[in-house]
Amino acid sequence: MKAVRICIGSACHLKGSYQVIETFKELIKVYKLENKLELNAAFCIGRCTEAVSVARWDETILSVSKENAKEIFISEIMAYL
Ligand code: FES
Repeated sequence: MKAVRICIGSACHLKGSYQVIETFKELIKVYKLENKLELNAAFCIGRCTEAVSVARWDETILSVSKENAKEIFISEIMAYL
Protein backbone atom coordinates (compact mmCIF):
# COMPACT_ATOMS: atom_id res chain seq x y z
CA MET A 1 0.00 0.00 0.00
CA LYS A 2 1.41 3.35 -1.00
CA ALA A 3 0.45 6.62 0.63
CA VAL A 4 0.01 10.11 -0.64
CA ARG A 5 -0.06 13.04 1.76
CA ILE A 6 -2.01 16.10 0.82
CA CYS A 7 -1.11 19.28 2.64
CA ILE A 8 -3.95 20.91 4.52
CA GLY A 9 -1.85 23.71 6.01
CA SER A 10 -3.21 27.26 5.69
CA ALA A 11 -1.73 28.13 2.29
CA CYS A 12 -2.77 24.83 0.74
CA HIS A 13 -6.19 25.00 2.38
CA LEU A 14 -6.78 28.43 0.82
CA LYS A 15 -5.68 27.15 -2.58
CA GLY A 16 -8.18 24.28 -2.46
CA SER A 17 -6.64 21.23 -0.80
CA TYR A 18 -10.12 20.09 0.21
CA GLN A 19 -11.23 19.88 -3.43
CA VAL A 20 -7.99 18.12 -4.35
CA ILE A 21 -8.65 15.50 -1.65
CA GLU A 22 -12.23 15.03 -2.85
CA THR A 23 -11.08 14.57 -6.45
CA PHE A 24 -8.40 12.06 -5.44
CA LYS A 25 -10.91 10.12 -3.30
CA GLU A 26 -13.31 9.92 -6.21
CA LEU A 27 -10.59 8.73 -8.60
CA ILE A 28 -9.46 6.04 -6.14
CA LYS A 29 -13.02 4.68 -6.30
CA VAL A 30 -13.33 5.01 -10.07
CA TYR A 31 -10.05 3.19 -10.68
CA LYS A 32 -10.57 0.74 -7.78
CA LEU A 33 -7.31 1.59 -6.08
CA GLU A 34 -8.58 1.21 -2.52
CA ASN A 35 -6.08 -1.58 -1.79
CA LYS A 36 -3.16 0.14 -3.43
CA LEU A 37 -3.30 3.74 -2.36
CA GLU A 38 -4.21 5.61 0.76
CA LEU A 39 -4.67 9.32 1.23
CA ASN A 40 -3.47 11.14 4.30
CA ALA A 41 -3.70 14.77 5.27
CA ALA A 42 -0.46 16.49 6.18
CA PHE A 43 0.35 19.76 7.83
CA CYS A 44 2.61 22.25 6.10
CA ILE A 45 5.35 20.50 4.19
CA GLY A 46 7.28 23.69 3.58
CA ARG A 47 6.33 24.49 0.00
CA CYS A 48 3.54 26.99 0.71
CA THR A 49 4.28 29.25 -2.23
CA GLU A 50 3.59 26.34 -4.56
CA ALA A 51 0.38 25.18 -2.93
CA VAL A 52 -1.39 22.81 -3.08
CA SER A 53 1.46 20.48 -2.16
CA VAL A 54 1.06 16.72 -2.46
CA ALA A 55 3.76 14.40 -1.13
CA ARG A 56 3.95 11.23 -3.17
CA TRP A 57 6.00 8.44 -1.51
CA ASP A 58 9.18 9.50 -3.30
CA GLU A 59 8.62 13.04 -4.46
CA THR A 60 6.62 16.19 -3.77
CA ILE A 61 4.19 17.30 -6.44
CA LEU A 62 3.52 21.02 -6.38
CA SER A 63 0.89 23.45 -7.65
CA VAL A 64 -1.94 20.96 -7.60
CA SER A 65 -5.35 22.59 -7.97
CA LYS A 66 -8.92 21.48 -8.39
CA GLU A 67 -8.53 22.17 -12.11
CA ASN A 68 -5.51 19.91 -12.64
CA ALA A 69 -6.10 17.37 -9.83
CA LYS A 70 -7.48 14.65 -12.11
CA GLU A 71 -4.70 14.97 -14.65
CA ILE A 72 -2.03 14.99 -11.92
CA PHE A 73 -3.57 11.97 -10.23
CA ILE A 74 -3.41 9.99 -13.44
CA SER A 75 0.01 11.10 -14.66
CA GLU A 76 1.88 11.60 -11.38
CA ILE A 77 0.30 9.15 -8.96
CA MET A 78 -1.49 6.33 -10.76
CA ALA A 79 1.32 5.97 -13.28
CA TYR A 80 3.81 5.31 -10.44
CA LEU A 81 1.81 2.72 -8.51
S1 FES B 1 0.67 25.04 3.81
FE1 FES B 1 0.92 23.47 2.36
S2 FES B 1 3.06 23.48 2.03
FE2 FES B 1 2.80 24.99 3.55
